Amino acid sequence: MQKSLRKKPLSLLLKEVHSENRLNRILGPVALTSLGVGAIIGTGIFVLIGVAAHDKAGPAVTLSFAVAGMACIFAALCYSEFASMVPVAGSAYTYAYATLGELMAWIIGWDLILEYAVASATVAHGWSKYFQDFIGIFGLGVPLLFSNAPFDFDPTSGLLSSTGAWFDLPAVLITFAVTVVLVKGIKESANFNAGMVIVKVAIVLLVIVLGAMYVKPANWIPFAPFGFSGLSLFGHTVLGEPGAGGTPVGVLAGAAMIFFAYIGFDSISTHAEEAKNPQRDIPIALIGSLVVCTILYIAVAAVITGMVPYNKINIDAPVSNAFMQVGIGWAQFIISLGAITGITSVLLVMMLSQPRVFLAMARDGLLPKSFFGAIHEKFRTPWKSTILTGIFVAILGGMLPLRLLAELVNIGTLFAFVVVCLAVLIMRKTHPDANRPFRAPLVPFVPIAGILTCLMLMFSLPVENWIRLFVWLLIGMVIYFFYGRKHSALNTYQEEA
Ligand code: ALA
Repeated sequence: MQKSLRKKPLSLLLKEVHSENRLNRILGPVALTSLGVGAIIGTGIFVLIGVAAHDKAGPAVTLSFAVAGMACIFAALCYSEFASMVPVAGSAYTYAYATLGELMAWIIGWDLILEYAVASATVAHGWSKYFQDFIGIFGLGVPLLFSNAPFDFDPTSGLLSSTGAWFDLPAVLITFAVTVVLVKGIKESANFNAGMVIVKVAIVLLVIVLGAMYVKPANWIPFAPFGFSGLSLFGHTVLGEPGAGGTPVGVLAGAAMIFFAYIGFDSISTHAEEAKNPQRDIPIALIGSLVVCTILYIAVAAVITGMVPYNKINIDAPVSNAFMQVGIGWAQFIISLGAITGITSVLLVMMLSQPRVFLAMARDGLLPKSFFGAIHEKFRTPWKSTILTGIFVAILGGMLPLRLLAELVNIGTLFAFVVVCLAVLIMRKTHPDANRPFRAPLVPFVPIAGILTCLMLMFSLPVENWIRLFVWLLIGMVIYFFYGRKHSALNTYQEEA
């Protein structure tokens, strides 16, 4: 028990920042912010906004974006404090190790697989949908057998149904292509990402400016047809009316779903080791990318719900379809292309982050170091675990249905945010005098508000997600007790000390 509760000393973390076998420090504030924007704008704003507006919140989805953005800003302030204190690769995992002990750190590391690798699989799926849409404009198509996951999940009946396909080939191919870029190097990945970010931000701006000319304010009425709440407690609606199949609906339920659109800003903190000046630049990039995206998202949500009545918003390609509905067909071509580009860069950054969390865990002995800690001599990237991540994402993205994956990612990420906010509170108590180049403002208000808003969003998700999260964490705990506890680097560190 004592082993599971031991903490990684702050002094050891700081010593590690300067040790050998580190990654290349080449990222400045602009590259870091664009990595953030690269990870954020993707499937959420191009795809999920449709279901959220149509089924969960109506035009009030703009408020859902504001609520989810607020939860993320509280979390981002806490991430910033930690990332500036301990600029190493592990993100929430490392922060938990320093404050809550080894078992909790392992659980968060394991939980981050849900955020990065499983989110990548979800995003690869979304990429495939838009890609198929896009080539459809030219009369082309992927053969049915290779166009989708073999089965789908219906959230209202809870049943699985066959799609008639074998696997989703475009999802697998894009995953392998991204893996190759990632193995080649962080600089190539960052440059490639920067190009894609420019394209997708330009297209989001086009949606806002062009779309604004077609807004009919009458479409915003009624503003909140599903109500302003939507909070449930393990399957029982406690605030608002339950929707089809008993799932929560309303502004909060919409927020819990489109929270996916914000996921990724925290991946900036996994690149602390590759930042030239992490103490200053990581907080700038974390908060900067989040604020930019929150503003863009609220504007896109207002425009789309103003262009089309909420109950006519398309579920699969809501943004490009809204332009079709108001009669500007040419915009569909550009917007689909923007969505494909945007989603590719999300995939790139998410798959870039996963091996960096593995790397931090391997250095601590909680995962086999020879594999997860291996850094390529020439490329200086964690190549073995990058390839493993690519294979894992390709299998999940090719075989599992999108809906099953997306909500699981949300609950896992929200859980990680709760832990980071809690860790800031604990660290302020246990190490009040540690050097904090960036201090989260208004502590304890900000971390406590972060914990409460993230928990609220977790409770607004359909109940099956809690069960899936518990099962996933349980599997992780078993692995910890059989491997990590015995191989932890702290076993020998404590003997030396
Ligand atoms: N925020 C990312 C997206 O929406 C995960 O695709």
